[in-house]
Amino acid sequence: MRIFSGIQPTGRKHLGNYIGAIAQYISSQERGEGIFCIVDLHAITVAYEPIELRERLYDTTAILLAAGLDPARCILFRQSDVPEHTELTWLLCGVTELGRLQRMHQFRDKSIAQRELVSAGLLVYPVLMAADVLAYRAHEVPVGEDQREHVELMRDVARRFNARFGEGKEILVVPECRIPEVGARIMDLQEPARKMSTTSDSPQGTVYVLDEPRAIEKKFKSAVTDSGSEVRGGPEKEGIGNLIEILAAVRGSDRVAVEAEFADARYGEFKAAVASAVVEYLAPVRERYQALRAEESALEAILADGAERARAIASVTLADVRERMGVGAARA
Ligand code: TYM
Repeated sequence: MRIFSGIQPTGRKHLGNYIGAIAQYISSQERGEGIFCIVDLHAITVAYEPIELRERLYDTTAILLAAGLDPARCILFRQSDVPEHTELTWLLCGVTELGRLQRMHQFRDKSIAQRELVSAGLLVYPVLMAADVLAYRAHEVPVGEDQREHVELMRDVARRFNARFGEGKEILVVPECRIPEVGARIMDLQEPARKMSTTSDSPQGTVYVLDEPRAIEKKFKSAVTDSGSEVRGGPEKEGIGNLIEILAAVRGSDRVAVEAEFADARYGEFKAAVASAVVEYLAPVRERYQALRAEESALEAILADGAERARAIASVTLADVRERMGVGAARA
């Protein structure tokens, strides 16, 4: 089984990224052939600073390694090092419906948020994402809930490609999305109706992977809850529901078990328990991060080796796609 996922090298990685995605990447190394890509080409579809982009790329690489991605057991690479992704994007544009791209939630949200230019890249973003996965004929895509629509689109693109050019064969694999049962959508601690995100203007509501323990404790202490007193999820209880979800995710248990354990607890006591579980959960990553981040040349060597191995796979798919589409000289 081949597993592929991508992560943007923007901003600081947060608890939502970790629980929804990174934790799944680590465990997928046990289940199959993991291919993980730091998607710098996706990051240039909104306003950004070139120098920052490189810095954040190393930060993200070091976080993934610190979290437990092992280059001996998976492929870890930078998207822009493998030109097959951009070539396949263009080829797949021919089997992607324009109206569908215009209706994607992320395009609508991000184009409203852009103060200056709404780039064509923002519209084509999901096709690049389809190319990322389809180039490897991956079977599974571990992501958080917010990426479900993108995975649906890539499935349709693969199906349409196969129907148009496959002559009855599955040239491109139609991937499945793998969304965790607990922690698929971690919400902002200050605004629990919004998902935790890098672009939010609520740093107090966002727990970063590299936050110091004291900062984490403070953020949970001031997390917005509600006027009730029961540790239980449900309507009007988004704040507490989110904390229950976080605790269940970091413990690897479920919401029902957390609610039962804290049935008699007060909010303050419960928040402290969530904070200490999260501190413990992230501590090993933070401890390993600094040493890894300091060695940029070692990070480059890992990415270069990953890109070489990725390219060996993607180039085979591209040769098939070009052949099927009648692009370039026929194969001998
Ligand atoms: P990105 O970089 O925004 O997020 C990386 C991963 O983190 C998950 N995530 C969350 N999960 C739970 N709760 C949250 N609050 C939360 N916020 C983010 C995301 O679902 C994602 O899995 N378009 C993608 C990157 C990408 C990709 C791909 C993913 C590019 N090509 C191919 C899979 C396959 C993105 O922007 O993720």
